[in-house]
Amino acid sequence: MQRIYFDNSATTRPDPKVLEAMRPYLDQWYGNASSLHVFGRESFNALEEARRRTSKAIGAQVREIIFTSGGTESDNLAIQGTAFTNLAKGNHIITSVIEHHAVLKTCQYLERQGFRVTYLPVNPEGEVEPESLKSAMTKETILVSIMAANNEIGTIQDVRELGGIAHEGGALFHTDAVQSIGKVPLDVQRDNIDLLAISAHKFHGPKGVGALYVRKGISLRPLVYGGGQERGLRSSTENVPGIVGLGKAIEICMAEMDDSVNRMTSIRDRIIQGTLSSVEGCYLNGHKVRRLCNNAHFRFDYVEGEALVLSLDIKGIAASTGSACSSRDSETSHVLKAIGVRNEHARGSLRLSLSRMNSMEEAERYLEAIPEVISRLRAISPVSMLSKPSATGG
Ligand SMILES: Cc1ncc(COP(=O)(O)O)c(C=O)c1O
Repeated sequence: MQRIYFDNSATTRPDPKVLEAMRPYLDQWYGNASSLHVFGRESFNALEEARRRTSKAIGAQVREIIFTSGGTESDNLAIQGTAFTNLAKGNHIITSVIEHHAVLKTCQYLERQGFRVTYLPVNPEGEVEPESLKSAMTKETILVSIMAANNEIGTIQDVRELGGIAHEGGALFHTDAVQSIGKVPLDVQRDNIDLLAISAHKFHGPKGVGALYVRKGISLRPLVYGGGQERGLRSSTENVPGIVGLGKAIEICMAEMDDSVNRMTSIRDRIIQGTLSSVEGCYLNGHKVRRLCNNAHFRFDYVEGEALVLSLDIKGIAASTGSACSSRDSETSHVLKAIGVRNEHARGSLRLSLSRMNSMEEAERYLEAIPEVISRLRAISPVSMLSKPSATGG
């Protein structure tokens, strides 16, 4: 069976060109990038080339890129680093209720350390309203952290406007761009961004490597102390093959961005239109227009999301109920709660997330499968039976 992978917001398939670029740094130039000999110099040069490629992708300067172990660490470094450095200035942080747990749990930790955090609500389509940010800003606000695009429902935020409001109020602006790289054009200068988190495995790079853009002049308290690598902000011997993979992956996705965004958008739109028109009791979550080109997120009446994901898996289609981090826990997604989806409706969620490696034929195969899968699940769903007048004798 030819399997279809529609779970690219969880992680992507590494591009063969990325693996090829990484290989020499695993088996030939395995030197420590701090060593003086040729093995070290080759590693160092590769690291700097990756830094150059990463900075170019977001309009940053080369020295403004810090490599980390992934999106989670980048978010933690940005938020904790800013918070503890700016204590003398203020102790108020603003974020949104739909952030990834990498941001939310960090903010909750900071609350336990005595910081005050405001969690902005979102509208039913998942957008942070600029007015709500304006009214939450205080003289004590040191940081605003709003994601560029949401990993579950795909809503894209107006980071330029939100960053502008943060700056007017004298605060720094951080954005979690983990789901946006290669899909939403971002430029740290134009978009008023001071700190920006990246994760390689979301754009066909390797897992366990990420980057944080830190605007020149901003000082951060490190999370990790040691040998002083990455300008002292992230000690530990650099993951050279991983970083090379990140650099190659970001270069490829920037070069192909226009084409791949157009292709993903048409596949996404076919999936959305085809699903809504062929299945009753199905709704699209997230913004109709301002949504990631690779995201389709539905909820189906009288269906359990987990059963749906497993049924699709049997048919060779890999999808998800929402974010990978929470797909094994039965709690209702905080993102769906925030956009006003009731618990019983949130249970029937399905997220299909695309990459540039998907095709329209795969979308058609999914569209052939979904009506039958849904009706079979509804036929055996006790909730569905109870809600049908005939089944209750009424
Ligand atoms: C929006 C967002 N932020 C942060 C992360 C965490 O990234 P990583 O897996 O690289 O730690 C993810 C991963 O799913 C994400 O979707």
